Amino acid sequence: MTTAAGNRQVLVGEIEAGANRRAIYLLPPPEGANPATDLGWESFQDLPVPLIKLGPDGTVLAFNRMAAKLLGVSLRRKAHLSQLMEGLGRSISDWLDDSLAGRLVQKSEFLRLTRTDQEIFVQVSLNRISDGEEPALIAVLQDATELKSLEAQFVQSQKMQAIGQLAGGVAHDFNNLLTAISGHCDLLLLRHDQGDPDFSDLVQINQNANRAAALVGQLLAFSRKQTLRPETLNMRDTLADLTHLLNRLVGEKVTLTLSHDPVLAPIRADKRQLEQVLMNLVVNARDAMPAGGEIRIVTEVSTLEQPLERDRVSVPAGRYVTVQVNDDGTGIPRDRLQKVFEPFFTTKRTGEGTGLGLSTAYGIVKQTGGFIFVDSEVGRGTSFILYFPVLEGQPTTVSRASVSQPEEGLPQRSDGVILLVEDEAPVRAFASRALRLRGYTVLEAESAE
Ligand SMILES: Nc1ncnc2c1ncn2[C@@H]1O[C@H](COP(=O)(O)OP(=O)(O)O)[C@@H](O)[C@H]1O
Ligand SMILES: [Mg+2]
Repeated sequence: MTTAAGNRQVLVGEIEAGANRRAIYLLPPPEGANPATDLGWESFQDLPVPLIKLGPDGTVLAFNRMAAKLLGVSLRRKAHLSQLMEGLGRSISDWLDDSLAGRLVQKSEFLRLTRTDQEIFVQVSLNRISDGEEPALIAVLQDATELKSLEAQFVQSQKMQAIGQLAGGVAHDFNNLLTAISGHCDLLLLRHDQGDPDFSDLVQINQNANRAAALVGQLLAFSRKQTLRPETLNMRDTLADLTHLLNRLVGEKVTLTLSHDPVLAPIRADKRQLEQVLMNLVVNARDAMPAGGEIRIVTEVSTLEQPLERDRVSVPAGRYVTVQVNDDGTGIPRDRLQKVFEPFFTTKRTGEGTGLGLSTAYGIVKQTGGFIFVDSEVGRGTSFILYFPVLEGQPTTVSRASVSQPEEGLPQRSDGVILLVEDEAPVRAFASRALRLRGYTVLEAESAE
């Protein structure tokens, strides 16, 4: 090749670089070699592209430094390609045979490396060469991890959005129907006292309608359609109020311990929703320890000096109140770790699990501007950690403001005219009956027009 410095000997490597591009490398020939005759495998050692030379059956014959770096210790001579990577969707030998016979439709494939310390995806293209008599294959690898994880993130967010829309739509209609059912049932209960033969049936209807409403509430929380009522909260107070209930939830075999950072900072969140999140996490921890154990809830204020990159999200730097819910239960296998937040993902039997607990928690935490992560080791236990941004510019210790306003007792009987506007017919029918029972004259309208 002629350059400004005169003629130079170079080694030219041309490699498919994905996306229909070809990369051309001009490399200095190896020391002391005569490039015209000595183009052995050695010349590829310094090529900045991972290369593996394979025999026709898929055994590794040679590899260069970049390949060793990408594949780690598992890459040895005589190893088989199928020990190094997986996830083709058909047998690796078939793929090799097809390449050797020139039957390949697709030039390259995406595979996952089997190394367990890191999750790495590679794009592999096989190129047939003849090495003396024996045909052989050169596998050109390209790290495609980032591409894969972007794709996975995209698919996941689309899935969550679709399910959210569906759940939100159904839940909204359901909520209206349930309001009407439990409302009418309340009216019936007013007219039947305890001695009445129908009383216990009515109570059953009422209780089940309430349970259904709680379930619908979870769906709404997941689809983030519900309105949050954020207030300034201290996590310690919230937990203190909840301890009694949590202790009852966990039962006798499981103990619950709480520990708090002495200087807890305030956050802004909807108290009822936050309680729901904690309850869901605690119930899961209990379920993971059928033989009993300990659930530890730890709250802390922590400062992130750097943004925290985790599970494909980035938590901005700043101060956070973190809540950890730790158990020493069954743990969650690695491949399920991200699935647990998906709605309807459950490993429990029908009737015991809905698969909505964690997706609800996820929805609420996200809507509050927080983050939720999970760590787990099978057989050792699980730890969920929540990050809530500290509400800055507030005194560090919030006094417990009493927010409840004294309820004024409703008058037993009233008169007057009420214009009732409600677009849902069943809800309107119930509300107007209830108001009439109180003695009001009710004018009903479907809309304000
Ligand atoms: N603390 C935990 N320990 C072990 N597995 C857990 C834990 N929390 C959640 N899981 C797993 O995640 C799944 C989903 O949890 P969740 O959304 O609350 O639904 P559900 O509890 O109704 O199954 C559970 O079925 C369980 O397999
Ligand atoms: Mg649950």
